[in-house]
Amino acid sequence: MEETELFLLLFSAISVAILMWRAMKRERKFQKVPPGRMGWPFVGETLAYLKPHPSTSMGEFMEQHISRYGKIFVSNLFGEPTIVSADLGLNKFILQNEGKLFESSYPKSIEGILGKWSMLVLVGDMHRNMRILSLNFMSNTKLRVHLLHEIEKHTLLVLGAWREKQVFSAKEEAKKFTFNLMAENIVSMKPGKPETESLKREYITFMKGVISAPINLPGTSYRRALQSRKTILGVLEMKMEEKKMRTNGREPEIEEEEDFLGWVMKQSDLSSEQILDLILSLLFAGHETSTVAITMAMYFLDGCPRAIEQLQEEHMGIAREKREKGESSGLNWEDYKRMEFTHSVINETLRLGNVVQFVHRKALCNVQFKGYDIPRGWKVLPVFAAVHLDPLNHHKPHHFNPWRWQDSNNSSNFMPFGGGPRLCAGADLAKLEMAIFIHHLVLNFTWEVTEPDIPTAFPFIDFPKGLPITVHRLSSNTTSTILERETTATGS
Ligand code: HEM
Repeated sequence: MEETELFLLLFSAISVAILMWRAMKRERKFQKVPPGRMGWPFVGETLAYLKPHPSTSMGEFMEQHISRYGKIFVSNLFGEPTIVSADLGLNKFILQNEGKLFESSYPKSIEGILGKWSMLVLVGDMHRNMRILSLNFMSNTKLRVHLLHEIEKHTLLVLGAWREKQVFSAKEEAKKFTFNLMAENIVSMKPGKPETESLKREYITFMKGVISAPINLPGTSYRRALQSRKTILGVLEMKMEEKKMRTNGREPEIEEEEDFLGWVMKQSDLSSEQILDLILSLLFAGHETSTVAITMAMYFLDGCPRAIEQLQEEHMGIAREKREKGESSGLNWEDYKRMEFTHSVINETLRLGNVVQFVHRKALCNVQFKGYDIPRGWKVLPVFAAVHLDPLNHHKPHHFNPWRWQDSNNSSNFMPFGGGPRLCAGADLAKLEMAIFIHHLVLNFTWEVTEPDIPTAFPFIDFPKGLPITVHRLSSNTTSTILERETTATGS
């Protein structure tokens, strides 16, 4: 490109940004938008908003803005005029009015990586169709009849390989568990096989791109993630071709495996491109967040021995009763329902850990709330972390206190899985994964965090060191025997 052309391009981009910024300011004069500031043209306050902070805090940006402007304020984020909400009522209102007053609106860069048919970016009927298909994979019956056993099998596979006093990353172990579970049930890829390990590695590069600046230049994380997307789609396409060959009768003796991919290919009228995006994003959504949630549970429990004791009591009780009834098989739905304190630990982990800090929406029309105007087309960010850490919603919000979930009903002030028509499709699956993992963990091991590490919001949540831990094996209880038996059987 000629220098003059480059100059003209740059000049036009800056002029457009300034015009947009002026228009935003003008619009504010005529409407009663919430207080706040727009910051610099175009970038606005994005960098300050995205500044990494512990996920157990709201971050400096939110704290300062809330104390200066209140729980609903205006800003300029991700290149758009934005209403930021730390208000429980407004957050619920936004989530419940999806498709009517508000609509999902993720940055274009996310669409580039997850694909235009990914559920996160789809809206309207197509979103509803994809959602129905995904919910079928994680329906209550599937959880009870099939996935519970799958979860237990994959938990035992991971825990069975743990060796006394070995130091390892809790996050990597949690990832092995959640990724293997998803890969086997969505596309029949077996744990430990080279193709599964290589897909898991591709997803690490992929994830880095989802959260990076969308700069498509050689060497950037975004460019590498786009490349990973291609590689992942290539693998998934191959799986689809294999299935088509079988169903076309070329290999009639092989019984078709009922994984999610096979089911979608048979039961839906989606195009191949749509199926590929759906599978790619389900594999992604199905392991990244629950990996972090399980790692967080280990992190919080390490600092709360009383909770570990109570968990051990609860799970020993379940194991003892199964032994007395002569039940030698694994856990069942009734056992899961008896894990009451475990559910409190899960809720508290999700509340204080804030695995998903906020979601992206935009206003479909001019909306009024608590006397403020939310102009049509503006970005709206309901910040869940701010609601979870608000002392008006949760007493002493910075304390890890699972018992708070036994005393009172906090669930109306709690939105770790979002809400409304886009409520996380995998919420029940994620809780089941956490509970079964915790069951075998506390019955068989104690653990210590060996190096300080904290869950950090980048804004995606990560443990910068992977949460290094060392474990000690507990002896003389029946579940240890199950663990040993299962791991011998699977050859781990
Ligand atoms: C602790 C773990 C998890 C957390 C905290 C979590 C959180 C969330 C949140 C907040 C949303 C809403 C996004 C929005 O409104 O824009 C969401 C959506 C979604 N999640 Fe999860 N998630 C978790 C685990 C899972 C798992 C295991 C799956 C299984 C595949 C899953 C699948 C999905 C899907 C498909 C959506 C899109 C739903 C829709 O648009 O209708 N999630 N998740």
